[in-house]
Amino acid sequence: MKKKFYITTPIYYPNDNLHIGHAYTTVLADFLARFKRMKDYEVFFLTGSDEHGQKIYDKAKEKKEDPLVFVTRIVDSFKDLWNKMGISYSKFIRTTDREHKEFVQKKFTELFNKNFIYKGKYFGFYCKIDETFFTKKQLINGKCPVCGAETDLISEETYFLKISEFKEWIKNVLKEENILIPNFRVKEMLKNFVYELEDLSVTRISFDWGIKIKEDFHHIVYVWLDALFNYLSIFSYSDSVWNIDEVWKENSSVEILHLVGKEIVRFHSIYWPIILKMLNYRKPKIFAHGWIITASGEKMSKSKGNVVDPLILIEKFNRDSLRFFLVNNIVTGEDGRFSEKLLIENINSILVNKFSNLIFRTDSMIKKYFNGVVPSQKKINTNEKILIKELFKFQKEYFEYVDNIKLSNAIKTLISYIEKLNHYIDISTPWKEKNIDRLSTIMNILVKEIHNLALLFSPLLIDSTEKIFIWLKTEKINFSNLNKDFSDTNLGNIGHLFERIK
Ligand code: MSP
Repeated sequence: MKKKFYITTPIYYPNDNLHIGHAYTTVLADFLARFKRMKDYEVFFLTGSDEHGQKIYDKAKEKKEDPLVFVTRIVDSFKDLWNKMGISYSKFIRTTDREHKEFVQKKFTELFNKNFIYKGKYFGFYCKIDETFFTKKQLINGKCPVCGAETDLISEETYFLKISEFKEWIKNVLKEENILIPNFRVKEMLKNFVYELEDLSVTRISFDWGIKIKEDFHHIVYVWLDALFNYLSIFSYSDSVWNIDEVWKENSSVEILHLVGKEIVRFHSIYWPIILKMLNYRKPKIFAHGWIITASGEKMSKSKGNVVDPLILIEKFNRDSLRFFLVNNIVTGEDGRFSEKLLIENINSILVNKFSNLIFRTDSMIKKYFNGVVPSQKKINTNEKILIKELFKFQKEYFEYVDNIKLSNAIKTLISYIEKLNHYIDISTPWKEKNIDRLSTIMNILVKEIHNLALLFSPLLIDSTEKIFIWLKTEKINFSNLNKDFSDTNLGNIGHLFERIK
């Protein structure tokens, strides 16, 4: 039986178009989903839209539109963007789906009946942009500690979830069970939130754009509780291939990974495992990445108005280049800068000068010396033995890095792989080689290794690796195809895989 991997992105708010910050999370998830498929896992990759809440309600009102009509238009643009970026998601969930809404009501009732929910009054601060409650102490200079916006002081009747009962439990889970990666985020969570963990207000009454609870129709479910449930509710849809218990029950062997940006780790690593525990479900793994910041060091965000539209970038530079930049240039887990200048430098110095060049040189030489037919490998020399060993070490490193979600390191390893091969061409000077057996061996090794590179890059560079497979007249299949021999293959045309940007 195939191993199973369940990967999710946050579900994004359809209050505006998406920017490259959102594209970043989604590309990381897509890389991992494709990588696992290449490892022969059965993969379920979930993304979607988080459609309720005050921010969306106010925005629709401002536009004098029905909230559902308003969000539907934006959700369509999300799907369009993901298709254009080659995001291989399995399902797109909308929190306005009937199935999701029914599921949330049912689970709310379950929590209610288990006595985890009680009625009270909330008094505190609320940031509409982050849809988050804060205590006075958590505010920074009276403003939202996450995005810096003004908060509203609210005082309203609400239902609370007994989160604080699980304070010790979650503290130990975070400290001991490695559910939150990278590990330095654990300390942040403990210090900033866990030590003063309070019950969570989980319903709102001041507006009605949300899921009504059965217990009290004046109340709608707090948008974060509503949203987190998406990771479970998707398995209640009638066309679901996987069953909720098989994924979420304690004895499940499915690997679950939530990819999130650092500003929403609190919800995913504290509240969410507690809610799951209340419902007798297991803990997920959560990976938190950093932010994309502008050249001047500011977080890119809709509220700051400094966002970059990924659609424009892929039209200008193509999607592989953008996907490459996002994974390679931002150290996975940390903040990283984006500017068009950096993107262009990346394309020219790596994708063109190194990667395209390696393939172009190899293709030209095989066309010139062997009429385009890949020769077979003869006796390899000591240098080549060392080279092959080193490249094998790179392959191993690449797998370890991806498995540990050090994706930028994984890509750096592949860049070293390319450099090694370019260096191999430089030192073996095939253009001076008179011995046909030697020349055959060099060309055969190069083709085999370019194919290996194409397989290893295929979760990230989706179109350009496809071109390599077509050039080699082969199919991608999966990683078991590594080290395939291409003797006697009549090469197709490839030209320059990436074009230099002026
Ligand atoms: N709807 C919630 C998530 C609910 S999940 C149960 C939400 N949505 S969001 O539209 O604001 O998207 C947040 C996600 O977008 C972050 O987790 C992060 O992945 C991504 N990013 C938004 N701005 C970002 C950057 N500038 N840089 C990197 N990622 C950023 O929060």
